[in-house]
Amino acid sequence: MHEDVERVLVTERELKEIAQKLGERITKDYEGKKLLIVGVLKGSIYFLTDLSRYIDLPCNIDFIQASSYGNSAVSSGEISIIKDISQDLSGFDVLLVEDILDTGRTLKYICDMLAKRNPESISIVTLLDKPARRAVDIHADYVGVDVPDEFVVGYGLDYNQSYRNLPYIGVLKRSIYE
Ligand code: IMP
Ligand code: MG
Repeated sequence: MHEDVERVLVTERELKEIAQKLGERITKDYEGKKLLIVGVLKGSIYFLTDLSRYIDLPCNIDFIQASSYGNSAVSSGEISIIKDISQDLSGFDVLLVEDILDTGRTLKYICDMLAKRNPESISIVTLLDKPARRAVDIHADYVGVDVPDEFVVGYGLDYNQSYRNLPYIGVLKRSIYE
């Protein structure tokens, strides 16, 4: 375990099981649809690459990147789009892939923006959900696992752009960010 990590919250093995379970559910739900998987950069990349290999359907994959200002452990709520999806959404059933649903502001902003582009539908799959922190009215259609209100890193999730490559989800020691 990394020395900055207090404890492991989701192991490598559990992460694989989550990707498989959700991938199989999504495969059933999206059969016959025109699926566009959209990863929210950068945190979702590990989850997206694992999850999509369990989605046994034809699909397109694209990415979007939003930024809430600053590099702190708390998101500011002011959101802007840094990188937009490069394809037309009309006719597509869009599946947004997120690393963690925290206040929900980022996904709410993205969903509202994409909804104006005539997609067939928009759904959300998030690896982690922190329901205690929700500030806006949004929920994920598919959730890997609920987590307590602690700052977590690894498997794509960062603190100041570090720790993304840890193969597990761990709780970051408070001394690192306080
Ligand atoms: P929201 O807009 O507050 O829902 O924030 C969503 C984004 O904040 C996530 O996509 C993450 O990038 C980041 N975030 C929120 N909580 C954590 C955490 O515990 N660890 C790492 N990143 C987090
Ligand atoms: Mg993110």
